[in-house]
Amino acid sequence: MANAIKKIGVLTSGGDAPGMNAAIRAVARKAIVSGIKVMGIKKGFQGLLNEEIFEMERNHVSEIIQRGGTVLGTARSSEFRELEGQIRAAEICRKQGIDALVIIGGDGSYRGALDLSKQGINTIGIPGTIDLDIACSEYTIGFDTAVNTAMQAIDKVRDTSSSHERCSIIEVMGRNAGYIALWCGIANGAEDILIPGKYNYNEQVIIDNIISNRKKGKTHHIIINAEGIGHSTSMARRIEAATGMETRATILGYMQRGGSPTCKDRYYASIMGAYATDILCQGKQNRVVGYQRGEFVDFDIAEALSMQKEVNSYQFEVSRLLSQ
Ligand code: F6P
Repeated sequence: MANAIKKIGVLTSGGDAPGMNAAIRAVARKAIVSGIKVMGIKKGFQGLLNEEIFEMERNHVSEIIQRGGTVLGTARSSEFRELEGQIRAAEICRKQGIDALVIIGGDGSYRGALDLSKQGINTIGIPGTIDLDIACSEYTIGFDTAVNTAMQAIDKVRDTSSSHERCSIIEVMGRNAGYIALWCGIANGAEDILIPGKYNYNEQVIIDNIISNRKKGKTHHIIINAEGIGHSTSMARRIEAATGMETRATILGYMQRGGSPTCKDRYYASIMGAYATDILCQGKQNRVVGYQRGEFVDFDIAEALSMQKEVNSYQFEVSRLLSQ
């Protein structure tokens, strides 16, 4: 059967994530071997609106699998958030002869994909975000690299924190999601992990914990604070005043988004990219790719966006127990 899809576009949107390049490479290579033209769209939806579009050949995606960031660039577009922008973006796709668009990004990008699908453009989402906060997928591209980067940085802070017998508050990224904080909290053996939905903002509990740990002879105290809780610097001042233990705040910030992707990120991104092109070839429309229970799967975009995801309570309880 002749392939109905002749030309696709690919873009990355929202915050960059290590492994996005592996996904771009897989989308492009799988399409090219299937006889489909691939248009690279620079700087996300804004680049689409600016028609920053070029045909991708096989060699455009050579030597990128190991690189952090996204070779296509990314942006958060205010123009595309408006209906007028979405209508214009769909017109540009039609003018360019783009039959379908593969969008690599987080939940904001999925909302963009849904908006564009309402204007008649077939869109396929691939989960690319360090936050791991896409409900339909147990895995998001970039998370593994980000947690490993954060874990190594936290180990280093811990060394100096122990030498000085200090308390350290380390703020990790994750917008309103607590996955990076939870994973690092467990992997770094943090004494306290503060994450949205679990932390009750009772600082006295943390203070009592620090005082009791000091009495037990602990020489340092690591608090991993999720970005969604924030205010690490003022929290450090209050904790120091209440405990008498020198307390410093470290905000890890954008270093968590950079760097060469881990094997896991490259692997999952490669399969997800190929899978996205495959489902387009099968004639599927307006789907997002996910990973669940060992399988790569796909969902309707609107259905995916309506799903909810929360930090697992058992895993959170384990993190508390192990740090006692
Ligand atoms: O979504 C990824 C992420 O790094 C979040 O963890 C963070 O809150 C946000 O992006 C920061 O975005 P920006 O690049 O716009 O500052």
